[in-house]
Amino acid sequence: MSSNKPIGVFDSGLGGLTVLKEITRILPNENIVYFGDTARVPYGPRSKETVIEYTFQAINFMLEKGVKAIVIACNTATARSLTEAQVNYDIPIIGVVEAGARTAAYTTKNNIVGVIGTEGTIRSKAYEKEIGKINKDIRIVDKACPLFVPIAEEGWANTDVARLTAKEYLRELKAEGIDCLVLGCTHYPILKKTIGEEVGMEIILVNPAKETAMDLKEILVDQDMLNDGQSQPEYEYFVSDIPEKFSAIANEFLKKDIDGAQKIDIQKY
Ligand code: DGL
Repeated sequence: MSSNKPIGVFDSGLGGLTVLKEITRILPNENIVYFGDTARVPYGPRSKETVIEYTFQAINFMLEKGVKAIVIACNTATARSLTEAQVNYDIPIIGVVEAGARTAAYTTKNNIVGVIGTEGTIRSKAYEKEIGKINKDIRIVDKACPLFVPIAEEGWANTDVARLTAKEYLRELKAEGIDCLVLGCTHYPILKKTIGEEVGMEIILVNPAKETAMDLKEILVDQDMLNDGQSQPEYEYFVSDIPEKFSAIANEFLKKDIDGAQKIDIQKY
């Protein structure tokens, strides 16, 4: 048995493309429907209720596209709405937090883990809860770093602006003696070099994307839903506003050109 239906990948905007990159590497035969809610990004400062509403609309849209499984490729949307989504929909739905938490819990040697993310993700304590399920002796030092999102989207990841911002945000975390740092926002892998240089080589950076893609593969294998790989995979991109901007920046996030994105009216869902 197999299923050639697409996988739905959803983010508040462009950040989820860093997760998509790993999904396409680990599951190269799968068709993809990507939705970026570019009209309503950022989700970081929004309330839980609002993020749940937006996530459900995105899921409704992707279900209409016939997806067989959904990846919430957004830390904020995962932290705020994954549980509600899993309860309300009868389709495999995974997020990025559990995978990132697991990687961090098994990476740290001194049991002090740093977590950076949007205000919403940090306020939710989602990483702390997930890491605590694996090892309650791990201490979490977290910090919201909202400015990293516009810096990544502006293409400034390797500039002095990014370096100064990283220095300011990461000072406290370094001083607390963390030995691993979770990039708990899908935009942050774009700044990986700058963040890595700032914290130093002895602190291991955890990008939840790779482990998320492996989790997705495991689900597809378990449920006999892998694509049979008989035809070229198709990638379709949808956004809720300004598709031209999405296509232009997507290149930087995905490290490949995309054919273009289509605009949809997400309010209909
Ligand atoms: N994609 C979001 C995340 O991973 C960051 C951007 C936003 O605030 O919506 O948390």
